[in-house]
Amino acid sequence: MQNRPRRLRTTPAMRRLVAETRLHPADLVLPMFVREGATEPHPISSMPGVVQHSDDSFKRALADAAAAGIGGIMLFGVPLSKDAVGSGATDPDGVLAKAIRTAVSEVGDELVVQTDVCLDEFTDHGHCGVLRASSAPGGELVVDNDATLERYRDMALLHAEAGAHMVGLSGMMDGQVAVVRDALENAGRVDVSILAYSAKYASAFYGPFREAVQSSLTGNRRSYQLDAANSREGLREVALDIEEGADVVMVKPAGSYLDVLAETAAFSTVPVWAYQVSGEYAMIEAAAAHGWIDRERAIHESVLSIKRAGADVVLTYWATEIAKALR
Ligand code: PBG
Repeated sequence: MQNRPRRLRTTPAMRRLVAETRLHPADLVLPMFVREGATEPHPISSMPGVVQHSDDSFKRALADAAAAGIGGIMLFGVPLSKDAVGSGATDPDGVLAKAIRTAVSEVGDELVVQTDVCLDEFTDHGHCGVLRASSAPGGELVVDNDATLERYRDMALLHAEAGAHMVGLSGMMDGQVAVVRDALENAGRVDVSILAYSAKYASAFYGPFREAVQSSLTGNRRSYQLDAANSREGLREVALDIEEGADVVMVKPAGSYLDVLAETAAFSTVPVWAYQVSGEYAMIEAAAAHGWIDRERAIHESVLSIKRAGADVVLTYWATEIAKALR
């Protein structure tokens, strides 16, 4: 027999040598939730092991993440009060601005501090933007793209002011990268990077995240996030964001969109990241809790597969745990 591919699978040493993809702590980013006014960490029932942090638990988790050698953190704020325009998002003393300052002072030299620029945690209607009555008969409320861009601009400038190294634009408004890039340039903050959630799909896999940030959303995000049926449309979004000045583009969720990720990696001129979202986390945790799958192996395989498909970096709620296991 000429072809015996099994020869390269004979021993652990051989398998390790021929591995085409590897996980490394530096390629992992940890998303974190900080809850305004919390005196102790609050568990998130649909995300076992993930919490809404208090100030103390946040600092401990930051130190732990830095010691584990991960690449960075992505911060989300859970505010005490919300309103129609998400005022808390642009409050210099708001939960997210404070969390950014804490992270930068605690671990800013070791970790890249990234922030979520989006209004959904701060609006009482739970949408990623501000609303206006549509001009159609009936005048139902729709998300106003251009009015939302002004909110994102102010939010990104506040995050930069607070010391964020990279702002993550996750709202899926048209033109958001260009507006924020322009605002940062005009403010002299040419050092702040933009992570564009470019191919972000309207996904059921964000379910547990809604609990994590106590979202008020009724309805859905289908008028701004992508339809799961479409890959070409996702690639168009990626191309536009690169043109508008994104430093990094992202595909989200990751596991069900590996084709979009692979195609993006094939043409992108900037780094390509992927977000393994809350529902992907919850599914593995839930199955493992039942003893139906091997938890550690499933975690490793799921993240490795995202890298194999083309992600340079993976955002995952297991970032610190995986980094520790790799050490
Ligand atoms: C928007 C945002 C969402 C997630 C990250 N940023 C929610 C959404 O778009 O509905 C979801 C992340 C996850 O599910 O882990 N602020």
